[in-house]
Amino acid sequence: MAILVTGGAGYIGSHTCLELLRSGYDVVSLDNYYNSSPEALKRVMKLAGKELTAYDCDIRDRGGLQKIFSEHAIEVVIHFAGLKAVGESVRIPLAYYENNVAGSVTLLQEMEKAGVHCIVFSSSATVYGDNDPPYVEDMPTGAVTNPYGRTKYIIEEILKDACAANEALSAVLLRYFNPIGADSSGQMGENPNGIPNNLMPYIAQVAVGKLSELQIFGDDYPTPDGTGVRDYIHVSDLGVGHVKAVAYAMEHTGAQAINLGTGKGVSVLELVRAFEKASGVNIPYKIVPRRAGDIPASYADPGKAKELLGFVTQRTVDDMCADTWKWQSGNPDGYKA
Ligand code: NAD
Ligand code: UFG
Repeated sequence: MAILVTGGAGYIGSHTCLELLRSGYDVVSLDNYYNSSPEALKRVMKLAGKELTAYDCDIRDRGGLQKIFSEHAIEVVIHFAGLKAVGESVRIPLAYYENNVAGSVTLLQEMEKAGVHCIVFSSSATVYGDNDPPYVEDMPTGAVTNPYGRTKYIIEEILKDACAANEALSAVLLRYFNPIGADSSGQMGENPNGIPNNLMPYIAQVAVGKLSELQIFGDDYPTPDGTGVRDYIHVSDLGVGHVKAVAYAMEHTGAQAINLGTGKGVSVLELVRAFEKASGVNIPYKIVPRRAGDIPASYADPGKAKELLGFVTQRTVDDMCADTWKWQSGNPDGYKA
């Protein structure tokens, strides 16, 4: 029995492949390497001491999907593949709908033809839109402010409809909060193209001297220190959450949305201080105006993940910073080195 991981070479995908191999699963990765490198999968295999099978394939390529489903006894698909840059999605929305939404529909159709009934989908806390945190799974979703977030909302709705129409189907919709950190080996981590959009990779690149200073987007939010608050979750904890979701998907049918977060809010300044402590490096910053579309605070109610999956995060913000620093300082050019 094997698990197909779409987007397996990506940041969260590669850390999840490692946790799946460590848990004894056979793993098949499918990735078009648009935003990743095959080197990530080599490191996964080295760290796990086990092989996985990797396909250079696009989720929109029906023939490629059919080949994979015919060559492996896939029981569950973990579906990470997608485009994820919020700003870019505003500029080229159709590419996001084509890749994320149409690609997911093609994948679901080919799963159906191949008799594969279980999918674990990478959704996002962004679907909660303008609700007040802590976010609970039964809050209304869909008041999303950008095309990227809307693709997540639409794919969730497609999966709910598909489950309503086919009682054999199982879909776990994992709503991630803010994944950061890296495998504790320092061999794997986040490898963004160009200048990072997200806070942690930006801080890490300032720390190694690739960027000169951090810009903090606003210190006038209604939060304890005025800077934005987020629920940062270690990517290796997230990988463990997927292993638990795979087991859940195999035992249950229907669509189930589940938050993966710690439940704790951390401000931008708190994360900067924690990173400075972990790395011993000073992070110069300046306060600039708020970034359009940002919300003051986002954090999970993690109760449902504990109840249904038995999932509780293990790693602290200090761990997240120490592991990011180990990866970034040892691999300043990511997987290119
Ligand atoms: P990533 O870009 O590192 O990984 C995505 C992978 O999918 C990449 O390896 C990319 O090459 C591949 N891919 C993209 N389009 C593809 C296609 N059409 N066919 C085959 N492969 C394709 O991103 P990530 O941070 O690992 O995110 C994984 C998933 O989790 C994404 O769906 C993302 O939207 C979602 N998510 C991420 C975050 C976050 O902050 N990182 C938060 C919430 C949800
Ligand atoms: N921030 C800065 N400076 C930066 C980058 C970010 O001050 O250079 C601040 C933001 O204003 C925010 C916090 O740091 O307050 C976190 O910002 P990120 O860009 O790291 O993360 P977001 O919460 O904005 O968004 C991320 C993903 C989305 C996803 C969302 C919820 O980018 O795709 O988490 O999962 F939808």
